[in-house]
Amino acid sequence: MQIISFTNLKGGSAKSTTAFNVAGALTEMGYRVLAIDLDPQQTLSLSYLGVLSSEKSLSQVLVTDDFIEDTIVPSRYPDLFVVPSDHGLKAIKSGQTQIEGVELRLRSCLRRGKQSVDGQLVLDEFDWVVIDCPPSLDRLTMNALVAADYVLIPVDAGAGGRTALADTVEYITSAQKWYNPTLRILGLLINNVNSNTVYDQTTEQAVRDIYGEQVFRTVVPSSVRIRESAELQTPVVFCAGSEYRKYAEIYRRLCLEILTRVGVTGGKT
Ligand SMILES: Nc1ncnc2c1ncn2[C@@H]1O[C@H](COP(=O)(O)OP(=O)(O)O)[C@@H](O)[C@H]1O
Ligand SMILES: [Mg+2]
Repeated sequence: MQIISFTNLKGGSAKSTTAFNVAGALTEMGYRVLAIDLDPQQTLSLSYLGVLSSEKSLSQVLVTDDFIEDTIVPSRYPDLFVVPSDHGLKAIKSGQTQIEGVELRLRSCLRRGKQSVDGQLVLDEFDWVVIDCPPSLDRLTMNALVAADYVLIPVDAGAGGRTALADTVEYITSAQKWYNPTLRILGLLINNVNSNTVYDQTTEQAVRDIYGEQVFRTVVPSSVRIRESAELQTPVVFCAGSEYRKYAEIYRRLCLEILTRVGVTGGKT
């Protein structure tokens, strides 16, 4: 099981869109994926995946010794499961809910290890866990970084946000230093690129100049099709219609780059 956090301080940098489409593309490749929505705004679970809250909430699990496995709900796709976000996460984020070892809660939940009736660990069923973060460097985002093996940073080409990017990388460095020394930056993904504008090309080049090989070769263009797929609650790889094909290929290519970086060589793990 590989855990990837989708993180950037900036709102609208395509964290949820990327988590949604990467989860879809990995599922299409034959992997079993668990998508955890840590953003109280519920974009990934409710808006994009159309999943309502589970009986037991994630916020409840994070403040108790309960099992995160009991919060998992199915999606429309047989190999894609979801831990939905809930409003209770807001109180954890703001510090209103005081808990000991707050930064370590998600990591500990993912290691608690509930068994299914046949004695197997429930979470062992999953090849990948994708965690969608809120647009701030807060306790929830720290929980994701402490729990994850990898962090993928989506960067919006059109909206600048280079200061936010530097702050995000700095926050990741502090997560590595204090809590999770094996956390690796999987890569920076340049998103929402309008290749006709000089501004976007300049942003892309500036990010590549600073972050070099850490930037994925794959770039996601700005397209109404990508926005539509979220509205249709259907990852691009599962959207019918030739107009989506080009974008489906982009997410497949991104996943191949992810697999290479993680060291998985083709096929299902
Ligand atoms: N490549 C893209 N082309 C067009 N619209 C995009 C693209 N990526 C994301 N968007 C849109 O931008 C908005 C913000 O994306 P979202 O993934 O919710 O960002 P975040 O989770 O970082 O706040 C959404 O309306 C989404 O549909
Ligand atoms: Mg989001």
